[in-house]
Amino acid sequence: TDAEFIHPSILNADFLEIGSELDRISAADSVHVDIMDGHFVPNLSFGVDMVSQIVRHGPIPVDAHLMIEDADRNAPAYAEAGADSVTFHLEAASAPIRLARELRAKSTRAGVALRPATPVDSLLDVIGEFDMLLIMTVEPGFGGQSFLESMLPKIRRARKAISASHLEVSIQVDGGVNRETIERCSEAGANVFVAGSAIYRAQDAAEEIGTLRSLASG
Ligand code: DX5
Ligand code: ZN
Repeated sequence: TDAEFIHPSILNADFLEIGSELDRISAADSVHVDIMDGHFVPNLSFGVDMVSQIVRHGPIPVDAHLMIEDADRNAPAYAEAGADSVTFHLEAASAPIRLARELRAKSTRAGVALRPATPVDSLLDVIGEFDMLLIMTVEPGFGGQSFLESMLPKIRRARKAISASHLEVSIQVDGGVNRETIERCSEAGANVFVAGSAIYRAQDAAEEIGTLRSLASG
C-alpha cells in the first residue's frame, strides 16, 4: 500500500488531561476514540458528547471505533458529531450495508470491524460498501493486551481480495500494535495502525509515532 496512517488510541491516555493528551499526538494522522457501552464489551468509556468535544478541540480528525450494541440505531449520531470515520462492529449490526450507506451519506467514512473469531470471508463479497475494514488483533474491551499473531493470515486474505477487486479499502489493525508487531501487520497488508499503550506509555509520544510510522512503511 502507498500510505500508512498512525491512529493513537486515547483509551490509555490520562482522562483528566484529555486536551493535552490530544496535543501530545499532533504528529499522528487521526485520534482513535474507543466507544464502549458495557454490553458489547465488558467496559465503559466515552460517548457521543466526548466525540463532539474532541472534534471541537481539533485539528486532528476523529476515528471513532464503536464497540456498542445496536449499531444500526446508535452509529449515525457519531457521524453527526463530526467524526471523520465511524467504524461499527459487524457483530452488532443487523443491516451493515444499509448502515454504511447511511454513514457515507452523512459524509463520514464508514468502517466495519471484526472481532478476532469473526471470519472475514463472506464480508469480502461486499467490502466495496466500506471505506475501511478493521481487523481486531485482540478481543475488544481493553488496552494493553497482547497481539494475536493468528490474525495475520486474515489480514493477508483480506488485502489479497481487496487488491484483486481493484478497490481502495483501508485495512486497520487494532490491539497490541507496537514496535515488535507493526511490521508484520504492514507486510500482511494493513495500512492503518491503531496503537494505544505503545504511544501513551512512551516518554516522547511524537517520537514513538515517528518510529511506528517508519517501521510500518518498511
Ligand atoms: C481495544 C481497543 C483498542 C485499544 C488498543 O478494545 O479497541 O483501540 O485501546 O490499545 P493497545 O494498543 O494498548 O492494545
Ligand atoms: Zn479501538
